[in-house]
Amino acid sequence: KSIVILVSGRGSNMEAIVRAAIPGARIAAVISNRPDAKGLQFAAEQGIATAVVDHKAYADREAFDTALAESIEAYAPDLVVLAGFMRVLTDGFVRRFEGRLLNIHPSLLPSFPGLHTHRRALEAGVRVHGATVHFVTPALDCGPVVIQAVVPVMDGDDEERLAARVLVEEHRIYPQAVRWFVDGRLRLDGNRVHLADEPQ
Ligand code: GRF
Repeated sequence: KSIVILVSGRGSNMEAIVRAAIPGARIAAVISNRPDAKGLQFAAEQGIATAVVDHKAYADREAFDTALAESIEAYAPDLVVLAGFMRVLTDGFVRRFEGRLLNIHPSLLPSFPGLHTHRRALEAGVRVHGATVHFVTPALDCGPVVIQAVVPVMDGDDEERLAARVLVEEHRIYPQAVRWFVDGRLRLDGNRVHLADEPQ
């Protein structure tokens, strides 16, 4: 199966997926909305095709999403993986890739959608926190959940320590979700996730 990964910055989740060397998966391209995204360097070093669709070059969200979709479609991917991609996508874009669009969010959804999740978890005083891989549907950060990982919140945690603890788990569960998809075990059926016991 061929995969396109979208990044905006550091790209550590993309790196974890690439390094997982998932049998049957081919990373066709890494695409960024920011020309200076660090993740692009790693991808290029790995010999993966890279592309930039700079959101600043487009008049509005629709125009950007159309250009982004075209750039993705050039690789005809079976799966599109959002890995720290920091642009809100239009409904049209999401529908076009429905069922083959995954995102990772640094909280236990449905808790803490949106930004600054670690800070908000600390403020709320929760004892567990984590990360969620989900299929992307038009409503922000609330698509059907594929896999979650839980970490404890410890006394004395600050945002940075908590984020680092969560990130370790992100790097484990995102490759796992991609492996399931590539094995044909994972699919979206309306608003439900189906995860088969055996590779299909
Ligand atoms: C991750 O914490 C991800 O969950 C969030 O943004 C961060 C991206 O990190 N959406 P990276 O670019 O994958 O290193």
